[in-house]
Amino acid sequence: MLEVQELTVRFHSAETPAVNGVSFSVPTGGIFGLVGESGSGKTATALSIAGLLDCAAASVSGRILLDGVDLLSLSSKERRRLAGKEIGVVFQEPAAAMDPLMRIGRQVEETLLLHGRFSAAERKKKALAALAEAELPDPERVYRSYPHELSGGMLQRSMIAAALILRPKLLLLDEPTTALDVTVQAQILSLLGRLNAEQGVSMLLISHDLRVVGRLCPTAAVMKDGRLVETGETEALFRAPRHPYTKKLVASVPGGEYNGA
Ligand SMILES: Nc1ncnc2c1ncn2[C@@H]1O[C@H](COP(=O)(O)OP(=O)(O)OP(=O)(O)O)[C@@H](O)[C@H]1O
Ligand SMILES: [Mg+2]
Repeated sequence: MLEVQELTVRFHSAETPAVNGVSFSVPTGGIFGLVGESGSGKTATALSIAGLLDCAAASVSGRILLDGVDLLSLSSKERRRLAGKEIGVVFQEPAAAMDPLMRIGRQVEETLLLHGRFSAAERKKKALAALAEAELPDPERVYRSYPHELSGGMLQRSMIAAALILRPKLLLLDEPTTALDVTVQAQILSLLGRLNAEQGVSMLLISHDLRVVGRLCPTAAVMKDGRLVETGETEALFRAPRHPYTKKLVASVPGGEYNGA
């Protein structure tokens, strides 16, 4: 469903490309993992897929095929329309991604205002349904709350609700659990697994933590300095890493064993 071919991202201010000829694909209804250390180019990859990189700051080349349509060949207007509808995005810091002065409900409804014509009543109905889908207790209360009134885990669930409200085909998850404590992390991962299984939404899950990827992703790629050094079944990456960098990543996992999908 998503096929990334030879993706290269150059920030104009940097000498070396942040992403350098990266190719991978996310199967329809599947979850693909992207793992790598800080600065390896994971976020730049996600931003370029979502069309969120400012072209004044970076140039993007290669092909990003969403169900066969190359997003990089579209006009920026076409692209915004398509990506806004078909691709949902969840980032690391839910608190930073939200407007502190705006109630959660309004923020969850945001994409409904941008894409499609829904009455206020329809928007609220969809937002409450999405909050319930994200397993938030008392969606009515969450809907009326301001970000500071919710825990980090509840905020991330609200972000997931916002990302899913238009029923996108693809969810980009950039370190969705990194800012959360371990128990909440596990809850969010199991929520994502359930949403994938029940709604069939395809996912690209980005993390610096091999364990997070191991929990949810049958296949994954390992990124270093803008390149993919190894791609394959996650289980095999754990069991028999080939690239020295993958070996290092596996060795850094306490216990080192595969415990996932
Ligand atoms: N706006 C920018 N301008 C210039 N260089 C940037 C910009 N954003 C990122 N970079 C550079 O691009 C490279 C890749 O950064 P990126 O944020 O994609 O890494 P990452 O793998 O997401 O790291 P982290 O795990 O810390 O989130 C880094 O060298 C970074 O310094
Ligand atoms: Mg990042």
